[in-house]
Amino acid sequence: MTSTFEHAATSHLAEAISAAHATYRSARPRSAELDTQARVVMPGGNTRSVLDFAPFPFRVASADGSRLTDIDGHTYVDFCGNYTAGLLGHSSTTIRDAVVEALGSGFAIGATHEREITLATLVCQRFASIDQVRFTNSGTEANLMAIGTALHHTGRSGVGVFDHAYHGGVLSFGHGEQLNVPHRFVVGQFNTFEGLDTLFTDDDLGCVVVEAVQGSGGCRPASESFMTELQRRCDETGTVLILDEVMTSRLSPGGAQQLYDLSPGMTTLGKYLGGGMSFGAFGGRADIMANFDAAQGGELTQAGTFNNNVASMAAGIATLTHELDDKVLAEVNDRGDALRVALDQTFAATDLPLSVTGRGSMLCVHAEHDQWLELYFHAMLEAGNYVARRGFIALSFSITDADTTKLVDDTRSWAASVIQ
Ligand SMILES: Cc1ncc(COP(=O)(O)O)c(C=O)c1O
Repeated sequence: MTSTFEHAATSHLAEAISAAHATYRSARPRSAELDTQARVVMPGGNTRSVLDFAPFPFRVASADGSRLTDIDGHTYVDFCGNYTAGLLGHSSTTIRDAVVEALGSGFAIGATHEREITLATLVCQRFASIDQVRFTNSGTEANLMAIGTALHHTGRSGVGVFDHAYHGGVLSFGHGEQLNVPHRFVVGQFNTFEGLDTLFTDDDLGCVVVEAVQGSGGCRPASESFMTELQRRCDETGTVLILDEVMTSRLSPGGAQQLYDLSPGMTTLGKYLGGGMSFGAFGGRADIMANFDAAQGGELTQAGTFNNNVASMAAGIATLTHELDDKVLAEVNDRGDALRVALDQTFAATDLPLSVTGRGSMLCVHAEHDQWLELYFHAMLEAGNYVARRGFIALSFSITDADTTKLVDDTRSWAASVIQ
């Protein structure tokens, strides 16, 4: 049966979106001007495609705590949280001071130093399955290195992944696959045993890369039985389980592997663990990581000019030492759970075709038709809430209960206005 709102979607949605764009545009002349300039020198006017949206993205002038202020003077509560990298909010003096102090003793160093040992020790202590770790500049790079390492270690060729997974700009399995690296990927359905069958019928599967909660894929949590069975089949077949914890490591002190009681052969990290600086890491079992240790017969080398860069190392140490308090982490995840339930109930109380999924501080608003998300996104911007265009929300430590209550209230008001 076609609901009232599906009918409205076909007849009035385009009109409502045009009106929202016009309102947005007229209030942001400086961002519009910069967008024109940007498009001359950067294709599409940006250097990170996910940040673009219609009619043009606002340009940030400053960020403070949980707030972003654009160059036209609009302030937004930052619910996007730099797609989970901004867990600490925008004003951590701990991180700033640590970076400034580190930069004071030189920062373009092409030699080893002590900070990388400190950070590696902290990472190994925090994540139970990581015996040894290496650093990279991004989560993408961490996954590329982990996959290459696992294939070398097993001498096999297949890389198991799941539909809608996102493991980086060149490891994308739901959208924008054109730039993917040419590994022999075997793609199974996420969170189903049939999906596991698809992967494990391959007779040369070297590794499986998986997120316990698909982040960019829409904040969809895997069931415990799926993850447990995946671990079991990896163990049984000598396939390296690579747990991509670039986003999910924020879900508990020991990451999703603690929540799901997993022991992956390898884990990849990134985002907030670098305190907001460029960061990535891959680590795992000592026998796998030994492939990088010539003294143990390892044949692999890892390159990367900025792998141990002073700013990221210092910010990572400060994050792990001073910022990631277990209680604060539990609070942000509880706040996310409460927000997800409240938003979902708000949508359910209307006939609107929107819903919310997620776990802890990572959540995502879904819509049957993308136009509903476009309308919701612009309505939230006008109300002073920056939710990612695709509905993604990642709470930071700076977001308060008052902020989440405001988002729910603004969502309710918007829903009431569209169903009138
Ligand atoms: C699960 C996951 N893995 C890897 C990446 C890639 O990380 P980066 O953007 O630092 O390359 C992302 C980024 O969103 C991610 O969500």
